[in-house]
Amino acid sequence: MARPVLIAPSVLAADFTRLGEEVRTIDAAGADWVHLDVMDGHFVPNISFGPRVVEAIRPLTGKVLDVHLMIAPADPYIEAFASAGADVITVHPEAGPHLQRTLAFIRKLGKKAGVALNPATPEDVLSYVLDDIDLVLAMSVNPGFGGQSFIPSVLGKIARIRALIGDRDIRLEVDGGVSAANAGEIAAAGADVLVAGSAVFANNDPASYAGNIAAIRKAAAGH
Ligand code: DX5
Ligand code: ZN
Repeated sequence: MARPVLIAPSVLAADFTRLGEEVRTIDAAGADWVHLDVMDGHFVPNISFGPRVVEAIRPLTGKVLDVHLMIAPADPYIEAFASAGADVITVHPEAGPHLQRTLAFIRKLGKKAGVALNPATPEDVLSYVLDDIDLVLAMSVNPGFGGQSFIPSVLGKIARIRALIGDRDIRLEVDGGVSAANAGEIAAAGADVLVAGSAVFANNDPASYAGNIAAIRKAAAGH
């Protein structure tokens, strides 16, 4: 099922002193979703922000707030992110012992549920939760930091995940090291949501964001 590729700028690369303006700017610059990376300094070696920031961003954009939880445990915080205004909540399978329960809980709160796979996490973990998810997030860097290089072995994995998804209504998102230079091959492998932090917020020059988003979108469509 080929769908237009969505672009989800990650605000991890935004200028945090002007976070609200940055979100408004990427909204106006053509972002399809807004990707929010939540890090706890435990599951990943970095700390970012929590539900209060998601809540603060919520009124600034009508776009999908795509919340990527890199926290363990995740379960105790899911309700807070749902109330804060997340539309999609994505968890890593390593973040808790009962993945299906976590995913069902996210959906019970009226949100879309996603599973994020680290580069070394096999896609097999999806086999028995395919009817419980709305999104698979394939990490193409080890999570924790923006600005890392895309790991090429993930391309084959994206294609295998696409085959697993079949004709189900599940988005396949790729996150880490995505730019206009590799968006074509990533989309060709089967991704239909591209997260991009540094490639969108390059130099934190708001005047460049629309062009940066358009370049990734064009590269993804050109496959
Ligand atoms: C990494 C995050 C990514 C990151 C992407 O842990 O999940 O969303 O912000 O940043 P870039 O596009 O710079 O690799
Ligand atoms: Zn992310």
